[in-house]
Amino acid sequence: MALLNILEFPDPRLRTKAVPVTDFGPALARLAENMLETMYAAPGVGLAATQVDVHRQLLVLDVSEEKNAPHVLVNPRILAKEGSQTYQEGCLSVPGIFAEVERAEHIRVEAQDVHGASFTLEAGGLLAVCIQHEMDHLIGKLFVDYLSPLKRELVRKKLEKQRRQAASAAPATAAL
Ligand code: NI
Repeated sequence: MALLNILEFPDPRLRTKAVPVTDFGPALARLAENMLETMYAAPGVGLAATQVDVHRQLLVLDVSEEKNAPHVLVNPRILAKEGSQTYQEGCLSVPGIFAEVERAEHIRVEAQDVHGASFTLEAGGLLAVCIQHEMDHLIGKLFVDYLSPLKRELVRKKLEKQRRQAASAAPATAAL
C-alpha cells in the first residue's frame, strides 16, 4: 500500500472530467486500497480518484466513527434524489476551509465494486453528502464552486497564505 499525493485547489487538474472505469483488473483494487489508506491517513471521510490525479470514475469513503465501514464506488450514478440538507463541508483538496453546501438529503446510487459487480446503495445524512461531494469531484467540480465568486477568491488567497507560511516554516534541509 502507498500514500498518494492529493491535488489542492486551484490545481487545474482538479477540473478534469473522469472517464468510466472499464478495466476491473488488480490495478483497480490496488488503487482503491491506496486511496482508502490515503483518505484515512489525511484524515478524511471521502476521496475521489480525481484528487489523486487519476481521472477515472472511482471514489472511496467511510463516514463511520470507528473508520471500519469503507465504501468503494466505481462508475457511480445517482438514480434518485429526495429532500435537501445543508452541511458544513470541507475537502482534502481545499485544506482548512469549511462552508455550508445544500445537497439532497437522501439518494439512491448505482455503482460497481472493484470486480465490476453492480450494486445499489441507499444513503442519507452525511453518507449522502459525502457521495454527492465525491461525485462532483469526478466531473471536475469542487464544493467551493457553490460559493459566490468573491468568497471563492477569499478561499484561494487564504490557501495561498497557508502554503507560504508552511513553506517558510519548513526546515532548510536543502542547504545541507
Ligand atoms: Ni473533496
